[in-house]
Amino acid sequence: MSKHELYVGLMSGTSLDGIDAVLVALSGNTPELLATTFRPYHVTLKQALLSLHQPSHDELHRALLLGNTLAQEYASAVASLLHTAAVTPNEIRAIGCHGQTIRHRPDASYTLQLGNAALLSELSGITVASDFRSRDIAAGGQGAPLVPAFHDKVLRHPDIHRAIVNIGGISNLTNLPPQGTATGFDCGPGNLLMDAWIMLHRNEAYDRDGAWAASGQVIAPLLQALLDGPFLHAPPPKSSGRELFNLAWLENHLSGDEAPVNVQATLLAFSAHAIANAIKTSCKGAKEIYLCGGGAHNQELVRQLRIALPDCLLQPTDKLGIEADWMEAMAFAWLAQQTIQGRSIDLSAVTGARHPCILGAIYQA
Ligand SMILES: Nc1ncnc2c1ncn2[C@@H]1O[C@H](COP(=O)(O)OP(=O)(O)O)[C@@H](O)[C@H]1O
Ligand SMILES: [Mg+2]
Repeated sequence: MSKHELYVGLMSGTSLDGIDAVLVALSGNTPELLATTFRPYHVTLKQALLSLHQPSHDELHRALLLGNTLAQEYASAVASLLHTAAVTPNEIRAIGCHGQTIRHRPDASYTLQLGNAALLSELSGITVASDFRSRDIAAGGQGAPLVPAFHDKVLRHPDIHRAIVNIGGISNLTNLPPQGTATGFDCGPGNLLMDAWIMLHRNEAYDRDGAWAASGQVIAPLLQALLDGPFLHAPPPKSSGRELFNLAWLENHLSGDEAPVNVQATLLAFSAHAIANAIKTSCKGAKEIYLCGGGAHNQELVRQLRIALPDCLLQPTDKLGIEADWMEAMAFAWLAQQTIQGRSIDLSAVTGARHPCILGAIYQA
């Protein structure tokens, strides 16, 4: 296989669970997934990253050091991926590295993903494309979500109205009408509030299958208060992150008397409503909904989405040939190819960018 066909995609999202790494052949119209690996973050790395989401002492120095640590983690993930696939670095055209978001502030015209791309290129011996979001923000966009461009490329159907929901820390939606422009935006929380709450009360990284939430009772006034927040009601373009949806924000809505299990049930219902309402308002007529991201494994969340969207067929993107767990990393492999080939991407109907842009910066091997 020619070296110009192979790309690596690295995704490390808001959930702070770790690094999804994929090896993808991007020669034809359909991306071919050749190998995958997941490298979880050590709990100390996760804590160090979490502590950089708010202003704190000597944060610039600590952020740059963590960027170096992340580059080493990314390089290890790439090495293990290539080992699995028996592929050498010189066969890879480029790595598309999302980086780790520690601040996303389109309102202040910046977004910051950590991960020293120069060091990753040095360690891996492979060209790296990174910092995909900044150019979109420079062009007046939200900088997120970017994956709708990939969904549009590979998942659109000529006759069937589809929507794709990526349930990561934050959830985002792509509307793919058979004709017309693809649209998309962040719906609100996906997993991040549920993850934070179960960590606080049960010291578990996430609520497997939504089982803890399913054993509690939704607190109706709390759910209503969360749903009344301005983000869900704001028209697109919009994007979000830990700046808005975090434990401090949640605790502002609590009296302190709630049983933790009932708060978890309410948080799951909040994510389900945020997603279902976004589909009902912005994907009118969509018949097929495809889920991806870790939240697609949350059976209770999927069950509630099915109840809220009785007219839609809800399935994981696996049914369309793209595994739900690797969709976003594959998107960043594809985004790297667009960067390397100098192709601009039109996200004006998603992020609100004023014009198509070539996203990303290139660090040559
Ligand atoms: N079996 C499961 N049940 C419930 N939630 C799950 C399950 N598997 C993964 N998740 C959720 O998915 C998250 C990771 O999803 P991911 O798509 O990697 O998000 P991100 O892009 O924000 O990193 C985990 O933190 C967890 O909340
Ligand atoms: Mg993740």
